[in-house]
Amino acid sequence: MCGIIGILGDHQAAPLMVDALKRLEYRGYDSAGIATVANGVLDRRRAMGKLVNLADLLVTEPLAGFAGIGHTRWATHGVPSVANAHPHRAGRVAVVHNGIIENFRDLRAGLGGSGESETDTEVVARLCEDFIAGGMPPKDAAFATIDRLEGAYALCFLFEGEPDLLIAARAGSPLAIGHGDGEMFVGSDAIALGPLTDRLTYLEEGDRAVVTRAGAQIFDAEGHQTHRDTTRIRVDATRIEKAGHRHFMAKEIHEQPQTLSDVIAAFTDGDRIAPPTDFDFASVARVQMVACGTGYIACMVGKYWFEALARLPVEVDIASEYRYREGPVGKDTAALFLSQSGETADTLAALRYAKGRAHAVLSVVNVAESSIAREADVAWPITAGVEIGVASTKAFVNQLAILLVLAIRAGVQRGTIDTAREAELVSGLKLLPGIVSQALALEDRCEDLASRLAEATDILFLGRGPMYPMAHEGALKLKEISYIHAEAYASGELKHGPIALVDRSLPVVVFAPMDPLFDKTVSNMQEVMAREGQVLLVTDADGAAQASAGVWEVLVMPKVDPVFAPILYALPAQLLAYHTAVHKGTDVDQPRNLAKSVTVE
Ligand code: F6R
Repeated sequence: MCGIIGILGDHQAAPLMVDALKRLEYRGYDSAGIATVANGVLDRRRAMGKLVNLADLLVTEPLAGFAGIGHTRWATHGVPSVANAHPHRAGRVAVVHNGIIENFRDLRAGLGGSGESETDTEVVARLCEDFIAGGMPPKDAAFATIDRLEGAYALCFLFEGEPDLLIAARAGSPLAIGHGDGEMFVGSDAIALGPLTDRLTYLEEGDRAVVTRAGAQIFDAEGHQTHRDTTRIRVDATRIEKAGHRHFMAKEIHEQPQTLSDVIAAFTDGDRIAPPTDFDFASVARVQMVACGTGYIACMVGKYWFEALARLPVEVDIASEYRYREGPVGKDTAALFLSQSGETADTLAALRYAKGRAHAVLSVVNVAESSIAREADVAWPITAGVEIGVASTKAFVNQLAILLVLAIRAGVQRGTIDTAREAELVSGLKLLPGIVSQALALEDRCEDLASRLAEATDILFLGRGPMYPMAHEGALKLKEISYIHAEAYASGELKHGPIALVDRSLPVVVFAPMDPLFDKTVSNMQEVMAREGQVLLVTDADGAAQASAGVWEVLVMPKVDPVFAPILYALPAQLLAYHTAVHKGTDVDQPRNLAKSVTVE
């Protein structure tokens, strides 16, 4: 959700900023811009759409200077346009912002006159310029401005006549300071800063920093100068390459045998489940799981596992609903928050609501230094590596794997799983990466099926039991990258309304591995076929042998113990969506209107 970069370097800043913005583009790609100070003069370039447009503009209108700030935007206030692109400028001040300034209307009214854009950010630059015009030095003016802001922000200020000064501030949106040799950097995340430095200081909530080439002075929310630890990051972990694949999403789908194997190794020890941090699920009466999007779907699957394997009741909530419902959270509840980015604003706010109320606040997070990881009592690492494709794939599969191992661990602790069953489950888990590789071998078949799904305007996904959430995953993936309207239903629910949609033009994808619910799902599938719905049955060889008659197409998956099926059936959900999108020619890695990290509510 918007990415920001700031550089005080000893080289031309513009090319370095464009490179950093390229790495941040997964956070938003509605517009991009940079500003620099050269010979004391503040100037900027901005372009609508993808970063390539800004890069092209800089060829004809280059921007010199060793100090600069840059931004890639996911539009919140104001349409994508050059006028609304960051950096915003007022007089001697330029600013880039990730987040939302909630009181911007009041501030704008106080400033009078009309601005140059429709954005909330512009008032930040205008207010700061007002303070400077009133005689304040830039640092004091920026701090006075920040004091007036309400909402969520990561900000970086640059000033005319100040080639050795950046002011950075963080409240609700992540921001890190990078330390070079005689150079300093500011960036939204380690991915942006990785090629520039491996030494990062993450700002805490409410922090602001005065950054010069000599270093950074950090002040806490009360204005006291404070110390924040500097950590060394693994630069190789911030490398982003497609490794020969056409899209990051394809690369990330193909990495799954390895990333799944990594997470299983991290959470097991021999034939035992051994999470990197243990939590005693016998000490709670229920688990509350909260997440957004794909993470929420992982939680839906987690509920089946925890309830079946550990007999531990689970409630699942969408974070944006949970945070405002003010539901009771007792000391008998473990609250568990899932997030790939660890920065999703709704999930973070939900976590803060549960903190202090629940017995413990647990998290499953891919970005170790993220806000959710840092604020939770326990942060289990998703161990998927950097995920760039906006549609989550490998992080989702590893979230599922972690929920499964935690459910098994809970079963052991609560006495519903004995040592022999634990060993059996762990040995099954260890076979999974190999079975996922076999599923990847179905890619050509998925591509062929997808070329036909791409003709549809609406597609229905059905599943029962843990395959019901997987139907949701299939529909979500397809919607977000192919723009085809898709719905998911519990297969038994279809006859209570949505079956009215079924006719010969409607493809219906049915996830139904051979499991104790198979016959029931097949009955619902027959109801669809009786109304000429075109069924694509995704099942295993046993299921195909029993239920292929009359279906439009069958995708035969490898056989797997039903307990592991949700992890395996994520693969056809991903591959069908991916190839449908490729067939339609949509922008797979950067689908319209979306951003990878949603740091606004
Ligand atoms: C869909 C997708 C999104 C995210 C959601 C939450 O493929 O990736 O639905 O799952 O925006 O993001 P995180 O997990 O970063 O909190």
